[in-house]
Amino acid sequence: MEYDVKDIGLAEKGELRIEWARQNMPVLMAIKERFEKEKPLAGIRIAACLHVTTETANLMLVLQAGGAVVQLCASNPLSTQDDVASALVKNHNIPTFAIKGEDNDTYYQHIVAALSNSPQVTMDDGADLVSVLHSKLTKLLDHVIGGTEETTTGIIRLRSMAADKVLRYPIIAVNDANTKHMFDNRYGTGQSTIDGIIRATNTLLAGQRVVVAGYGWCGKGVSQRAKGLGAHVIVAEVNPLAALEAVMDGFEVMSMDEAAKIGNVFVTVTGNKGVLQKRHFESMKSGAIVCNSGHFNVEIDIPALEAMSVGRRKMRDFVEEFTTADGRKLYLLADGRLVNLSAAEGHPAMVMDMSFANQALSVEYLLANAKKMEKQVYVVPIRIDQEIAKLKLATMGVKIDHLSAEQEHYLASWQEGT
Ligand SMILES: NC(=O)c1ccc[n+]([C@@H]2O[C@H](COP(=O)([O-])OP(=O)(O)OC[C@H]3O[C@@H](n4cnc5c(N)ncnc54)[C@H](O)[C@@H]3O)[C@@H](O)[C@H]2O)c1
Repeated sequence: MEYDVKDIGLAEKGELRIEWARQNMPVLMAIKERFEKEKPLAGIRIAACLHVTTETANLMLVLQAGGAVVQLCASNPLSTQDDVASALVKNHNIPTFAIKGEDNDTYYQHIVAALSNSPQVTMDDGADLVSVLHSKLTKLLDHVIGGTEETTTGIIRLRSMAADKVLRYPIIAVNDANTKHMFDNRYGTGQSTIDGIIRATNTLLAGQRVVVAGYGWCGKGVSQRAKGLGAHVIVAEVNPLAALEAVMDGFEVMSMDEAAKIGNVFVTVTGNKGVLQKRHFESMKSGAIVCNSGHFNVEIDIPALEAMSVGRRKMRDFVEEFTTADGRKLYLLADGRLVNLSAAEGHPAMVMDMSFANQALSVEYLLANAKKMEKQVYVVPIRIDQEIAKLKLATMGVKIDHLSAEQEHYLASWQEGT
């Protein structure tokens, strides 16, 4: 398979949208300019498994500018932007294997296809590609120098592989960079999750009870943005610290059992499974909207919802109505998959600028340092993280203060007190 996209004729539309995103990715473009001159990735084969969006397309072009030979597949069956996939194939010679709405079998066939270049570097979002490589295509592992991972859930899986001593090469946890999770997970997921809910349903959030499960980086963002639109936000958590933070940030905190009875819109964003279960669906009000923005579609127990329903209808794109035996109607968005990438376009380019700057610089770092690295999960070096923050501020025209020599000394000493 050379490539697999929905319709190669969509390339022109995709190209314009890629250009539109590029205008808001100045940090990544500065890296591209340097990569074009220095070619730090010359001849390196990369297999990437990422959401196939306009921002990802720009990252692929940066890797290509650095000299890499790239193949791309989707990291979620519903997140692909078909026009973007076509533009990458037709205009940029990047074999892309991704079709929005592909079934599970095709999703995994596409991962295998993306790996057909026998990669030296893997770039993953959720660790499905790494998992296929370590289970079904182990013969390719000898060529791999290292990899990067984009999201919280992927890093949890990879750390577990490292703990079980089955991880076969070093991976850089891009998600753990401050310039990634503090911005992408919080402001990116915050805005785009609300965007997905609104595009799918056209609901008015003002005055509604929005229940957010998980008050981590993503959950904080979703809660803040829902509050900004006038929703009454309720947070459900399992971690006492995160729950306390939500209370002091001004949100109502309660168990999901309680929240299920009063919520109008439910958003899971925990990275965990079975967060909304049968007993929760049993107590929800008719008309409740249920969606997920965590990485996998296991946060909502969809089989349980299906089993307790006597009827189901597709009401609109990404909205499915389930009728329960007692006549209530519950609305599931985007098959319980990432609502922000399925029903909307994912994070805005302005925030992906930093996430993908981390990706590009992490690959460069890996190639220079892999020989010294163990088969472990590594954080992005703080030097790279700070450089990205500095560059981002500069592109936003924001100037900050600098420590004087005296202040620097004071902050590193103990002699001066009251
Ligand atoms: N939609 C997107 O575009 C997008 C972007 C970034 C990350 N993610 C994904 O979102 C998920 C969350 O990421 P994060 O960075 O916020 O993680 P995080 O670790 O910062 O936060 C997760 C929170 O969920 C809580 N939690 C766990 N199980 C729970 C349960 N049963 N009920 C209530 N709360 C529970 C944890 O205590 C934690 O506070 C991950 O799957 C991540 O990969 C999605």
